[in-house]
Amino acid sequence: MMQLSDGSSRIYGEAAFEILAKAQELEKQGEKILHFEIGEPDMDTPANIVKAGIKAIKEKKTHYAPSIGIVELRNAVQNEVEKTRGYRPDLEQIVITPGLKPGIFFSMLSILNPGDEVIYQDPSYPTYGSVTAYLGAKGVLIPLLEENDFRINPDDIKKKISNKTKLIVINSPQNPTGSVITKNEISEIAEIAEKFNIFIISDEIYSKMTYGTTHYTPTLRDEAKERTVLLDGFSKYYAMTGWRLGYMITPVKMAMRLQNFLVSAISCTASFTQWAGIEALIGDQAFIKKMMNRFIMKRDRIVKGLNSISGFSCLSPKGAFYVFPNIKNTKMTSEKCANYLLNKAGVAVLPGTAFGPGGEGYLRFSYANTVENIEEAIERIKKLFE
Ligand SMILES: Cc1ncc(COP(=O)(O)O)c(C=O)c1O
Repeated sequence: MMQLSDGSSRIYGEAAFEILAKAQELEKQGEKILHFEIGEPDMDTPANIVKAGIKAIKEKKTHYAPSIGIVELRNAVQNEVEKTRGYRPDLEQIVITPGLKPGIFFSMLSILNPGDEVIYQDPSYPTYGSVTAYLGAKGVLIPLLEENDFRINPDDIKKKISNKTKLIVINSPQNPTGSVITKNEISEIAEIAEKFNIFIISDEIYSKMTYGTTHYTPTLRDEAKERTVLLDGFSKYYAMTGWRLGYMITPVKMAMRLQNFLVSAISCTASFTQWAGIEALIGDQAFIKKMMNRFIMKRDRIVKGLNSISGFSCLSPKGAFYVFPNIKNTKMTSEKCANYLLNKAGVAVLPGTAFGPGGEGYLRFSYANTVENIEEAIERIKKLFE
């Protein structure tokens, strides 16, 4: 019998894609499924960005590019970070990746040894736990409590620090709860990391997707020069999920290691995608405002609707485009309830447990959908629980 590697048996996938496959199976059988499982904006990439991508292809920007990213985009990212985060990283700190996700993967590969402990939020984006497990490191989960609006409590982090703690992963605005960490909390977390000499990876993929609150980064403390890593990307707020484009701001020593990972794994991020990314950063930003105005309206509809269903209660999220309703009063597990909604109401959602054990008793809805579909889903679910 041929043996595959131990690490490959520990890495795991994402429930969103599994539920999507199940939903598509039902659709093939003629069911009308309403999709709330996949985390991507329901708007298309803005025309100016598409045009810049096409222009780049026509200009033959279709060859290999530097592994770390083209200098024109890295310059644009430098200006962007200065404008949005309040510090100007050196060019050597900036690494371009095909989407934010490889940034998580390669930065964790650069930081962790087997046996190291990684602190992250529970529930949280599954990639953090999956890569931790793959590397033989140990995940130390900090529960996000509904009573605290699903925000991580820095005191809880302090309590979990041991001499093996190597990394804290933070994500704000957060997937799956939509919580946004406050300025004080972010500063406290950055201070803790400094005091105990721990790395921070800050996943800021929803940085421009807040409702009436401001996004803060823990990387401001050391300007990503010592221990912090800023990850952001174009997927969500420029509706560019399929283009695959993200960036990292890291300590220079780490950027050099990352470059070797990129050379070995991907060679480079698609050249024309990077040119489209420049237009995204320097072009008209009105799209984001328009999208967020639509999201606010959808958020308010879905929160109101979910709160009107017997057994459901739902907080209003401060960022991203997810709601995380509490379904404990339905007396069902998250898994059972998600299956029930899919099979009986044709509404595809994720069980909270897809994001960690702390998600038990919750569901995640992505409200990147039409208002009509939101209203219809609420009606269908309501009927089931009447
Ligand atoms: C918290 C978080 N990080 C990273 C990603 C992945 O981003 P990308 O598509 O740019 O790789 C997602 C996508 O859902 C996410 O929710």
